[in-house]
Amino acid sequence: MQKKPYYITTPIYYPSDKLHIGHSYTTVVCDTMARYKRMQGYDVMFLTGTDEHGQKIESKAAEAGLAPKVYVDGVVQGIKDLWARMDISYDRFIRTTDDYHIQSVQKIFKTLYDQGDIYKSTYKGAYCKPCESFWTESQLRDGCCPDCGRTVEQAEEESYFFRLSKYTDRILKLFEENPEFLQPTTRINEMVNNFLKPGLTDLAVSRTSFQWGIPVTFDPGHVVYVWVDALSNYITALGYQNDRYNDYDRYWPADLHMMAKEIVRFHSIIWPAMLMALDLPLPKKVYGHGWLLFGGDKMSKSKGNVVDPAVLCDRYGVDAVRYFLLREVPFGQDGSFTNEALINRINSDLANDLGNLVSRTVAMADKYFGGTLPAVRHAEAIDEDLIGMAEKLRPAVQRLMDDIQFPTALTEIFRFVSRTNKYIDETAPWILAKEEADRPRLASVMYNLLESIRIAAVLLSPFMPGTAPRIFAQIGAGEDVTDWESAAAFGRLPSTVTVRKGGTLFPRIELEKELDALEALGAPADKPAPPKEEKPENVVSLVEIGDFAKMDLRVAQITACEPVPKADKLLRLVLDDGGKGRQVVSGIHQWYEPGDLVGKKVVVVANLKPAKLRGVESQGMILAADVGDDARVLFVDGDIPCGAKVR
Ligand code: MSP
Repeated sequence: MQKKPYYITTPIYYPSDKLHIGHSYTTVVCDTMARYKRMQGYDVMFLTGTDEHGQKIESKAAEAGLAPKVYVDGVVQGIKDLWARMDISYDRFIRTTDDYHIQSVQKIFKTLYDQGDIYKSTYKGAYCKPCESFWTESQLRDGCCPDCGRTVEQAEEESYFFRLSKYTDRILKLFEENPEFLQPTTRINEMVNNFLKPGLTDLAVSRTSFQWGIPVTFDPGHVVYVWVDALSNYITALGYQNDRYNDYDRYWPADLHMMAKEIVRFHSIIWPAMLMALDLPLPKKVYGHGWLLFGGDKMSKSKGNVVDPAVLCDRYGVDAVRYFLLREVPFGQDGSFTNEALINRINSDLANDLGNLVSRTVAMADKYFGGTLPAVRHAEAIDEDLIGMAEKLRPAVQRLMDDIQFPTALTEIFRFVSRTNKYIDETAPWILAKEEADRPRLASVMYNLLESIRIAAVLLSPFMPGTAPRIFAQIGAGEDVTDWESAAAFGRLPSTVTVRKGGTLFPRIELEKELDALEALGAPADKPAPPKEEKPENVVSLVEIGDFAKMDLRVAQITACEPVPKADKLLRLVLDDGGKGRQVVSGIHQWYEPGDLVGKKVVVVANLKPAKLRGVESQGMILAADVGDDARVLFVDGDIPCGAKVR
């Protein structure tokens, strides 16, 4: 059966500055989607490239004492090297200096001119030099460029114009009739209110003030101005109006144009208008994600090595960086990058949760069975919860990916990783290992763990393409049980699977030491301020519902209590938590005596990793409120049974 085509694009990058971690965000997002679609059986065309013309590049090359083409050749190679370093699996790389693209753009320009969609006139207006954009007075923000905020200058120049104004109504209708076309929805309102309702103005599409551009064939003093050149890449790269490729019929219209929000206007208004003028189908979806901010500001290379994606990949591994980008930023909104947040994510999610799960499981299978599980089995009811969750995972992840919700898809997978870790605690394999009679049960437990890891790793493959194969190698999963389809059912690993101990997947990073090392590498002197996110007062930072769902809060009754020896502030509480019971060490002795507490019901954080306080193990913590300098334990109404979940 012929595979269904899927065409996804990144914007084409300006080869003017070194790319920072914010730039790589768009590309990592697209790569993940491309890999996901390939795993689902699509014939994917994933396009990226470079946008190499314009005044800014001409000036940069002159500063460097190089011809523009020589200058861009060097930078473009650096961009390709970065994408190779970040495991970006693009299928095609277009450069706007490629001959075939130049020929196509010249033909497109001429067609639009011949049919009257492009005409010659004089442009007088506010011009933002860095953005190479003219703006109308109503579009300026406080008299400055609405995109970059810099001052604009009055400019006048003979120019060809694209009759954008003619398409206002058709574009408005497009947004009304097809709300899926532009996402997230907030971007539609921005476009309608800021640009469409005031009425579109015709767009200057040629320049005479610089030479580094595609010459207008019928008027040699003019070069094609940036957006007609740049946006056309999405079809010229498929062979539209050129002989280099023959893929237009197969892949156009694009399934997804992905980009950050500041270039949504060009993709959702100017590009559709150009396509309408050329009588070509429109892309199916334009998605404008948010910005990755650094210290509350838009990222820039002046932040130094700490935001250099190649440096970050070298220090932490590419998959850790990819994971952070995809997990940390609420998709569609702005998110904050700090080195501290990156390291914390690596330590908590990757080293502690995922890495530990794999290494513990493989080490136990190795220790108890010499690496190969016996075929004998003994299932118990407790397995059903884990298996049920495993089998629901793929549809859930699929739904979220189809909805372009990368962070929530990852949250689901990591919720399952945590559940699997909990299964180890519930089944306590080290106790089963003591009795010969328990070996069938132990084999079942180990199998369930390996199989859960396999399913999680399959679903993680598009996000972390280097890590999944390392996990498969350790858990003994052959190629036939690592494809997307194989994650649908529990039980695909052979029953006598053989594990192979491997290296640590994600070594823990010492936060303070690492931050010092980064500072020595040239981090900015001023530590990043928290991002300017809109949040209710009194709230430290917003979390997703999925993050809160990770907390297992339970009602428990204090059945016994005593001071911890040689620790003034600590009390040891014995709790009836509706299950096996537990002990918790709490620093509340300065406010409570044991007699105040015994018999009372409290809320305990039941899934907190155990910790030793003054040599006494604490299996969770109880909730208390700060009242001035005091702490008050939160007591619970007597009617609520022990073990009840608090949500
Ligand atoms: N050349 C144009 C695009 C033309 S497409 C026909 C361009 N290039 S760019 O190099 O400036 O940006 C490339 C991509 O990186 C864009 O999606 C841009 O929005 C994105 N980002 C640049 N900085 C970013 C952040 N700090 N955060 C998230 N994305 C960012 O625009």
